[in-house]
Amino acid sequence: MRTESEQTIYLKDYAPTPYRIVSVELDFKILEESTRVRAQLTIEPREDTAPGTPLVLDGDELKLNSIALDGAPLVLSAYASDANSLTLVEPPHKRFVLETEVTLKPEANTKLMGLYRSSGTWCTQCEPEGFRRITYYLDRPDVLAPFKVRMSAPKSLAPVLLANGNLVDQGELGDGMHFAVWEDPFLKPAYLFALVAGDLGSIKDSFTTMSGRKVELGIYSTHGKEAECAYAMDSLIRSMAWDERRFGREYDLDVFNIVAVSDFNFGAMENKGLNIFNDRLVFAKPETATDANYHGIERVIAHEYFHNWTGNRITCRDWFQLCLKEGLTVFRDQEFTSDERSRPVQRIHDVQNLRTSQFPEDGGPLAHPPRPDSYREINNFYTTTVYEKGAEIVRMLATILGEDGFRKAMDLYFERHDGDATTIEAFIKVFEDASGRDLSQFATWYLQAGTPKVSVTDSYDAASQTYTLTLSQTIDPTPGEPTKKPLLIPLRFGLIGPNGSPMGWTGVSGAAVEGDLILLDGDSVTLTFEGVANKPIPSLFRGFSAPVKVNTNLSQDDLLFLARHDSDPFNRWDALQTVSTALIANAAEGKAWSENDVEALRAALIDTLDNAELDDAFKAQALDIPAETVVGRHIGRDVNPDAVAAARKSLLTALVSPVAAKLAGAYGALASSDVYSPDAAQAGRRSLRNGLLALLTAGSERGASLAAEQFEAATNMTDRYAAMAISVRNWTSEASALLGEFRTRFAGDPLVFDKWLTASAQAPDDEVIERMRATLTAPDFPKTNPNRLRSLLGSFVMANPVQFTRTDGAGFRFITEAVVEIDKVNPQVASRILTGFRVLPTLEAPRREAGMAALQALKDQHSLSRNVGEILDRIIA
Ligand code: PHE
Ligand code: ZN
Repeated sequence: MRTESEQTIYLKDYAPTPYRIVSVELDFKILEESTRVRAQLTIEPREDTAPGTPLVLDGDELKLNSIALDGAPLVLSAYASDANSLTLVEPPHKRFVLETEVTLKPEANTKLMGLYRSSGTWCTQCEPEGFRRITYYLDRPDVLAPFKVRMSAPKSLAPVLLANGNLVDQGELGDGMHFAVWEDPFLKPAYLFALVAGDLGSIKDSFTTMSGRKVELGIYSTHGKEAECAYAMDSLIRSMAWDERRFGREYDLDVFNIVAVSDFNFGAMENKGLNIFNDRLVFAKPETATDANYHGIERVIAHEYFHNWTGNRITCRDWFQLCLKEGLTVFRDQEFTSDERSRPVQRIHDVQNLRTSQFPEDGGPLAHPPRPDSYREINNFYTTTVYEKGAEIVRMLATILGEDGFRKAMDLYFERHDGDATTIEAFIKVFEDASGRDLSQFATWYLQAGTPKVSVTDSYDAASQTYTLTLSQTIDPTPGEPTKKPLLIPLRFGLIGPNGSPMGWTGVSGAAVEGDLILLDGDSVTLTFEGVANKPIPSLFRGFSAPVKVNTNLSQDDLLFLARHDSDPFNRWDALQTVSTALIANAAEGKAWSENDVEALRAALIDTLDNAELDDAFKAQALDIPAETVVGRHIGRDVNPDAVAAARKSLLTALVSPVAAKLAGAYGALASSDVYSPDAAQAGRRSLRNGLLALLTAGSERGASLAAEQFEAATNMTDRYAAMAISVRNWTSEASALLGEFRTRFAGDPLVFDKWLTASAQAPDDEVIERMRATLTAPDFPKTNPNRLRSLLGSFVMANPVQFTRTDGAGFRFITEAVVEIDKVNPQVASRILTGFRVLPTLEAPRREAGMAALQALKDQHSLSRNVGEILDRIIA
């Protein structure tokens, strides 16, 4: 059953609009029960538009009250309107002004696209296609116009009136109404439009730009939360300074405002001069926010701010180019965090994220190129591939061009394209022109789906002192792409000698090698290094120089050697991950490890822990044993998550039990009585301590009670949440009590409730589904809030493989049943939760079949949104 259109949009059909919008004046009259929107659009035909060409404006759930052209009401035969469009049958062949009026019901807008209300505050979300839910418009990113917005509202309900740009007028209107007029001089597409009206508190600060202009900064939130916005403000100011330093980018308006709202579909939105944020990415205080929350706030505040140049000043021609702004801006926010905190730790963090979410997407039924060429529902393409793989592609460009070359190219990009709505092709061209390189093969990264697999073999000939390295790439087929082209893969590397020091060579042939960079461009290349004094161990893909999977012939001993001696911190970490992933995966498939293997791994982990030169955050990452989902992904097919969980648990026991006393000692020694600060050093110390707690709880008898004690004694949320989450994931005898206590202690704080939901959903015991069902159907559960829904259901599908993929299908059905209900309220949230089913092809047959049966029932028995319908069809296909 299907109700919404299944029409597919193709990149190849792109054509500019026949009409331009020259300027936009909007007038919002906001009242308690409804909002009236008047739009005055100054429109003109393009030079090459034939007279009589109809003008078709987009709409979505709109109803036209009135329409006038150049001041005169239009006769019925001159236009046609329905909920989804407004057509002027034969517009004037000259510049004209179109006036329309519609009435909106923001209160009833649960899709959270367009104008809606969140806890009483009126706010908007227009990317990608929300503006058409506000007024009839050419709602596409290549239509750029200056906007002037007048808004009026009852002062008691909405003393604060905000929109894009600069405030140019405000005043009282009588009847308790007041108004404000905002003008944005920068041309922008409608998706960057924003308006907020509400009873909000704020904190203010200012930033003086590099050319000496003073910018007023404001962060708005519900009253009482102002103090919790301080870290966001600090992050904003640091972001503004960093973009000047690192990219020479200065802010361009006199004001920059951020508003935190509690109902929001994504993380945050870069509306020009008025960013709107999911409140979970603004509010922070030590008692209720974790170090990870602080880290996330810093990152997303920076991300949205950086969009002012990469997204707003230079925007996308069409939504197929989404990666142009998102991949680039994620790269920029990753670089910001690397500069502000620890670069290696950030790199490991980002790669871990890529491997847990993007690799599974790229290797499953939802795989798509970073620049797709078709879609049914654009909201389904705000994916980890567009964002995170998109960032990796930009990072590879930076690696290939080098720091100076990359900066030069970015300068050219800003110079050449400021004010444009442009494309990936134009972006690549800039890099070609700035560097003089031919990047046509490189461009395939944007156009092709799938994670390349690079296989490595090597050999050493002592007599001739030559070392040979053979590298081959393959990419498995992905939906719609049966054959693949080889990619240009930048491989940063080094050779390490038997004593652990870097080794040199006198000559190399077989491929382009520039310093420590190999450019792999064919299916297979063989490099021959001359003058290599001893058999080296290769350290490949240093810093994870390309988003690929690597398969080497390195033994466990070689890998543990790298873990100790590699000068590249990323590869030290990665070597440990590779070893433990292989041990768990093999055991899950019935190939037991040897006592020696475990001993050697344990020794390497302990050496890392004891190494005085490494920082705590890095050690925490190094001691982290890969999650069940990561191991399942590594196995790739016929996965039995119960076997993976059991193997992981038994590896942890084997690793930890002989050294439990030592680990407990280290855990104790890391306790601190310092006043909480979210800084990297303190956060690193906490993460190492909590990492040790996780090891002790999973692998020894003493962890469970240590966790319970930590929960009680904690003076900040990082430690308290870690203690609870670790207890729940291991389902210790204390876990249930801790969940109960946590819930009571923080009753009434919705963002802490999210933490409770996230942890609850990860309990591996057989009753977890029944408990979640009870939570979800409780009368007071906020069924329309995306954060609550995602915390519970998103966390279950992504991080509880044992229960989600149960052979009896109970986990799958729990989700599909929830999806049916959520879809009626908010299709975007519903479809995102459903993407968890992409894991099906990797599972053993009974689970796969149970999952498919649940999906088939969903398809057969319900009428679904386009969002859910598209995801469902792609997974079932
Ligand atoms: N453009 C936003 C970002 O990544 C994401 C977003 C997309 C937010 C769609 C809301 C809706 O910064
Ligand atoms: Zn973004």
